[in-house]
This record gives sequence, C-alpha cells and structure tokens, in this order.
Amino acid sequence: KMIASQQLMKVFVTRRIPQEGMKVLSQSGIFDVQLWDSNEPVPRVELLRGVAGAHGLICLLSDKIDNEVLDAAGTSLKVISTFSVGFDHLAIDEIKQRGIRVGYTPEVLTDATAELTVALLLATARRLPEAVEEVKNGGWSTWKPLWLCGYGLSGSTVGVVGLGRIGLSIAKRLKPFGVTRFLYTGRQPRPENAAEIQGEYVPLDKLAEESDFVVVSCALTPETQGMCNKDFFAKMKKTAVFVNSSRGAVVNQDDLYNALTSGQIAAAGLDVTVPEPLPTSHPLLTLKNCVVLPHIGSATYATRGTMSVLVANNLLAGLKGESMPSELKL
Ligand code: NDP
Ligand code: DGY
Repeated sequence: KMIASQQLMKVFVTRRIPQEGMKVLSQSGIFDVQLWDSNEPVPRVELLRGVAGAHGLICLLSDKIDNEVLDAAGTSLKVISTFSVGFDHLAIDEIKQRGIRVGYTPEVLTDATAELTVALLLATARRLPEAVEEVKNGGWSTWKPLWLCGYGLSGSTVGVVGLGRIGLSIAKRLKPFGVTRFLYTGRQPRPENAAEIQGEYVPLDKLAEESDFVVVSCALTPETQGMCNKDFFAKMKKTAVFVNSSRGAVVNQDDLYNALTSGQIAAAGLDVTVPEPLPTSHPLLTLKNCVVLPHIGSATYATRGTMSVLVANNLLAGLKGESMPSELKL
C-alpha cells in the first residue's frame, strides 16, 4: 500500500468542485488527490500545508498563488490548473521562472459570463432590483408616468473595455437590442473581433465620453488596475450606465461611489468587487443606483461542470507531459 501511494502523483485541490472533474482525476488512476473538502476557501495555513510535495495544484481565483505557496510546494510542483479564465491571482513571473505549467478555462465560460453581463446591464439600466423591492415594500401605489424610468439600449452607443472573448460575446448579444454603435478599447485594435460588431477602436477617453453604456470585460493587469477612476467617470455622460464583470480592481470603488452619488453617471452594475465578498456595510450597497452581484458570471450548472472537466484534463495532460486542452502561454 505504501509503495503504491508513493508512485502516485500528489494533487491538491483547494475547494470542492463539480463531480465531473473529480471523476476525471480519480479515473486516471495516477493521482493521490487531496481535496479541501469544503465550499469555503481553504485557510492560508492549510493551503501551504496542502501543497507541500504536490505535483499538481487545482486552485480557484480566491487562492493567491504567490512565492510563499510555490516555496511551500517545493520543486515537485509541475502544473497549476486554475478553475478560471482570469489569472491575476497567480504570480505568473515566478511560476514561469520555476518551469511550472499553467492550465486555465477560456472559451467554456464565455457564453455564461456574457449572458450574465447582459442580464446585469439590463437589471441596472431598467432598475429591476429597485422595482422588485417597491413591489414588496408597498411602494407600488399605481401606474405612474414618471416612476422607475431607466435607460434603454435601442439607438444607444455601447463602449466595451477589452474586446476579448467575453467582451465580443457581450457585444454580439447586445446588438439585437438595437445598439447602433459599438466603441472599444484595448492595447491595440482587434480588427477580427471588431468586424463582427462593426466596432470602432477608440482611446479610453473617447469611449467614456461617447458611450451610453460602458461594459468592462478586460483582464486585470498592472495597466488596467484602477483604470476606471475619477477622471474616467468624470468623462462619462450623466445618463450613462457602467457595468463591470471583469475584476473589481479595474475600478476605483471610492471614485465610483462619488460618481454615483454626485450624479456624474446614472447607475452601475458590478459582478466583481474589492474585496470579495464586499462587506455588507460597504457604502456602494446603500445606493439604489448600484446593483452588486456576488461574482456569478460563469455560474450555470453546465458551465461549472464543463470547467471542472477542463481543469482536470489540463492537470492530467500537464502532468503526463502532454499538451493541455487549454494551456496559458507564459
Ligand atoms: P481575453 O483574454 O479574451 O480578453 C481580455 C481582454 O482584456 C482583451 O481583449 C485585452 O485586449 C483586454 N486588455 C488587456 N489589457 C488591456 C488594457 N490595458 N486596456 C484595455 N483592455 C485590455 O479574456 P476573456 O474575455 O476570456 O476574459 C476576460 C476577463 O473576464 C478575465 O480575465 C476575468 O478576469 C474576467 N472574467 C470574469 C468572470 C465573472 O464571473 N465575472 C467570468 C470569466 C472571466 P487587448 O489584448 O486588445 O489589449
Ligand atoms: C474567471 O474564470 O476568471 C471568473 O472570474 C470565474 O469564472
């Protein structure tokens, strides 16, 4: 028994994930899988303990994989497979230096995340949470011409910050609502993606000034951190709606709060915040014109199941020295 377990490669999984993925790991027959068997994040000390001597690590966006974790893992660690497309929680330079390969989950969550972003945009623009609340609290007295009015997409200009997989998928879904113009920004033009929505590549300033809806779908990088700040919101239209489903840190939340309370912008919908969870006492949660969701972009049963299988297959291929279904180029 001892010998058999010594031959198995140790894999640490930092959270309970859908069974489909766990099955792939167990059926491979080559892993000794150690699972943090909980729906809550693994405490840091348990993460450090769990990765020790591991060959593979399956982690989540809530696990910060930095030097300390890599040191705790030691030289056995060959593959990190993250249950996310975002990889801002991984110390990429360090990981690369150590020759560790990284798997992630692009594409499979694009539709679900785009769909949720459209839902959030509509809920924010048409004030759905506020309206539902009025029905429940007796605020609905009669049909009123001036009550609970919002902003529609028909004839609007939408600005997409980061026209990548998800950004394009959001834009394609918004187009049939009658959007007449798409603007987008990024590090360089993306003519192929832009052609699908007749998108115009513009500087961030122009996007802020001319959009009726701003949708943020870029990666979080040192460059994009805090990019949506005071100056950005000051350039937006007073009637514009801001939506972020990328990472919370792309937005300066204090500046967003000021923009929302001073009437500089009309409303904001956020699927992502800093920190997560956002404390229930956070000022943004006191605002009727701010809709906050608990980071549920990819949360459909099917998508999470598919993600878990991809995460397992990435790990499996990586540890066998094969090409992964979705390997992050470091
Ligand atoms: P992609 O890599 O396809 O797209 C990322 C985009 O970010 C690219 O279009 C890139 O544009 C843009 N970008 C990078 N740097 C900048 C910059 N300095 N300024 C403006 N744009 C920039 O990734 P996905 O579309 O698959 O995912 C995007 C992000 O969405 C993920 O990184 C993740 O953080 C988040 N996400 C959130 C989810 C949720 O649950 N809310 C679910 C899934 C993902 P360019 O290269 O042209 O600069
Ligand atoms: C990601 O994959 O980066 C999302 O934030 C969660 O699916």
